[in-house]
Amino acid sequence: MTLQGQKILIIGGTSGIGLAIAQAAMAEGGQVVIAGRTIDQVNLAKVKIGGTCEGIAIDVGDEASVVEAFKNLGKLDHIVTTAASLTYGPLATLPRSAIDSMIASKFLGPILVARHGAASLDPGGSILFFSGLAASKPGTGTAVVAAVNAGLEGLGRALAVELAPIRVNVISPGVTDTNGWNFIPEKDRSSTFATIAASLPVKRVGKPEDLAQAAIMLLVNGFTTGTVHHVDGGGRLA
Ligand SMILES: NC(=O)c1ccc[n+]([C@@H]2O[C@H](COP(=O)([O-])OP(=O)(O)OC[C@H]3O[C@@H](n4cnc5c(N)ncnc54)[C@H](OP(=O)(O)O)[C@@H]3O)[C@@H](O)[C@H]2O)c1
Repeated sequence: MTLQGQKILIIGGTSGIGLAIAQAAMAEGGQVVIAGRTIDQVNLAKVKIGGTCEGIAIDVGDEASVVEAFKNLGKLDHIVTTAASLTYGPLATLPRSAIDSMIASKFLGPILVARHGAASLDPGGSILFFSGLAASKPGTGTAVVAAVNAGLEGLGRALAVELAPIRVNVISPGVTDTNGWNFIPEKDRSSTFATIAASLPVKRVGKPEDLAQAAIMLLVNGFTTGTVHHVDGGGRLA
């Protein structure tokens, strides 16, 4: 079980967990293509990843962009999407544009990726989505995030049946130190992480590499489909 010679598209590969998955997949011998909304960010990330990593601009919430991308990508073995553009806050005051952006990047996006990308996959291939802890343990200000995460988990199970033998899995990360937390001012971030770490059974927050390791396992393990794999330091129990 290896990614040697396999072609893997990682949408969200310009940052955080997606970038770490790209690096891990390259190290496993995979042929990696990363995607983000702009070619400038993609090119910056390609430099960080190095090697033969390729890149393409895709906006997952834009069906024309998704269709165009799959026209140009050719055959793939795996598709991963970590793409998310999230805003936290009370539902009553969240701007409608923020709600639309969360749904577009993290729920409609994966639907469009599966709808237009599945035909590019080898029957032995797989799709991997990323939900999150808020689906199981929501906090104040996470209603839309929780909803898209929970929706993705249902989508993964349904597509595992509909697209079989292509495998479809979901990883649910807990708190992981990435740019996704940049909404907290830098001066407060480490104390926020320390407080969260103290509440977790594993006594630390996640690193992108923790999630990348789990992602590689789900890509190569040919007997796992329709699952939600929690990589959250025990966050659901905290
Ligand atoms: N970090 C955590 O604590 C945590 C916890 C629970 C769940 N998660 C989930 O895990 C996944 C990865 O999180 P992360 O922390 O690695 O996030 P991140 O560092 O903020 O990266 C998000 C990625 O999504 C891409 N993106 C956003 N909107 C997009 C769109 N419309 N089309 C294409 N790409 C888009 C961004 O690329 P560009 O900016 O280049 O477009 C970026 O590469 C997300 O689904 C997140 O919700 C993370």
